[in-house]
Amino acid sequence: MDPFRIQDYMTEPPIVVIYAHPAPRRSRVNRPLAEALAALPHVEVRELYRLYVDYDIDVVAEQRLLSTAETVVLQFPVRWYSVPALLKLWLDEVLESGWAFGPGGTALRGKSMLAVISTGGHADAYGPDGVHGHPIADFLLPLEQTALLCGMTWLPPVVLHDADNADSDAVALHIEHVARHLPALPLPQETQQWTRAEVAGEDAS
Ligand SMILES: Cc1cc2nc3c(=O)[nH]c(=O)nc-3n(C[C@H](O)[C@H](O)[C@H](O)COP(=O)(O)O)c2cc1C
Repeated sequence: MDPFRIQDYMTEPPIVVIYAHPAPRRSRVNRPLAEALAALPHVEVRELYRLYVDYDIDVVAEQRLLSTAETVVLQFPVRWYSVPALLKLWLDEVLESGWAFGPGGTALRGKSMLAVISTGGHADAYGPDGVHGHPIADFLLPLEQTALLCGMTWLPPVVLHDADNADSDAVALHIEHVARHLPALPLPQETQQWTRAEVAGEDAS
């Protein structure tokens, strides 16, 4: 993809968000975030629990989309210190040997992976003296190593702690924060301004 051709972003979104929430209708944080990201012109959101209610993942379609992406975002609420079940299945099935890793497995090499997560636990609870005993980064280690094994760059994760108590201001700030953490793309200036205005919920005109 030519990074200076805006037309390419229309057909091949460079940022693919793999969004997994087992109970999206009860989501305070991840659902509005996924909706805001889906409105960005260079982002495609794959809502796994809507696409694959039967857990029958279309591996070919997922791989085809990932091939066009430059950054893969994994967006999910933490469940028992890990990813929701369908995201685990997605990783198991889509990141195949010979495609994502192993002999001939170079499809994701040079791309980036970004985890955008929410936790019920407060930030203090994810410290050495906290109830969870370890920093949140420790619980993300399997994802980080997965990215590295596939030749990807692991970007610093974006975490919203204490998500169950997030009010609408906190959710709006989180959305803005995530949008700012998405890798900068060499888009034309007008498009960048429009994107920021869109994220802030302002009138783009
Ligand atoms: C089954 C289950 C397991 C959970 N496990 C954790 C956990 O291990 N650590 C944590 O901090 N929060 C945990 N939570 C809290 C969720 O992460 C939190 O409710 C979610 O991030 C809020 O985001 P949402 O508003 O998009 O649903 C768990 C919640 C459920 C329902």
